[in-house]
Amino acid sequence: MSDVPLSRRSFIGAAGAAVAGATLIPETAIAAPYIRRSRPASPVAVASANGIRGVARAIELMGSGTDTLDAAVEGVKIQELDPEDNSVGYGGLPNEEGVVQLDASCMHGPTKRAGAVACLEGIKTPSEIARLVLKYTNHIMLVGRDAQRFALSYGYQVEDLLTPSSREAWLRWRANRGANDDWLNVDGGQEPMGVRVTGTINLNCVNSAGDISSVTTTSGLSWKIPGRVGDSPIIGAGQYTDNDIGAAGSTGRGESNIMVCGGFLTVEFMRQGMHPKDACLATLKRVVEKTPPRLLRPDGRPNFGLNFYAVNKKGEYGGASFTGGRYAVADERGARLEDLAALYS
Ligand code: GLY
Repeated sequence: MSDVPLSRRSFIGAAGAAVAGATLIPETAIAAPYIRRSRPASPVAVASANGIRGVARAIELMGSGTDTLDAAVEGVKIQELDPEDNSVGYGGLPNEEGVVQLDASCMHGPTKRAGAVACLEGIKTPSEIARLVLKYTNHIMLVGRDAQRFALSYGYQVEDLLTPSSREAWLRWRANRGANDDWLNVDGGQEPMGVRVTGTINLNCVNSAGDISSVTTTSGLSWKIPGRVGDSPIIGAGQYTDNDIGAAGSTGRGESNIMVCGGFLTVEFMRQGMHPKDACLATLKRVVEKTPPRLLRPDGRPNFGLNFYAVNKKGEYGGASFTGGRYAVADERGARLEDLAALYS
């Protein structure tokens, strides 16, 4: 509370507002975390390592006044359209039937809005369709064939999302998946369920006004059961933004992230005052606590990969994984890869 006595005029004004049921407590009177009063000197973007070009694009756009959500979507679209990235959009590895099914979600901090699509087929840039859901509907998530019909209504066209190399990878996987099925094994195919891609790109950004947005987009787990939806399109799991606090998102084994609502949880840890890096580590600790024994190695560590990335309203950033790795950052010092903090040394 202010030490300055209320003048009669302001007192009457406040009393009148109370009677009218209007806002009683000005925002400034609520004890706010210090973080709320800060903002970065220049835009900051953080992403999974495959977002190195995306973070550069995002800060370039934010620097010239582009909205944070539009900057984030333009950043992740680079990967969605890249046939060489087999975890996102065009060229992403398909489900067990050879169909590419894409998931994406986004949040726009200033307007407190969210959008998502899941199991979307035939559209290269699901992040754009998630943004259309955010901008033009009263809903948050559209799925499957109806998400595709929604995209078509905005002029998108259905395209084959398999590239020659992702089709080849799937054909080899199908040929080798079982010793006793009717598909003859081929040389050079990977083990049936050996290395499965759980790639994805998550990108979170804050501009110099302190406005924040986040986007996550993926082709999901390779060779998944058709219809499987991972964490990426789940608001609060694959990504989350609170314009007062920051944004966070994830890549890796989606089911394990969904179990802890990791995007939301990381932002909540930042709300409690944690640095983004520590918030990511705290979320990973929670993941381990909630992991069933079948997904733990004999030494108690998870047998899967999961990363978190976060930025706060001040432009502080961080990322963490179980055993280290890299993530992408861009700010006034340019775009670069930095080390993820590791939960296990
Ligand atoms: N994190 C991506 C997925 O599990 O689908």
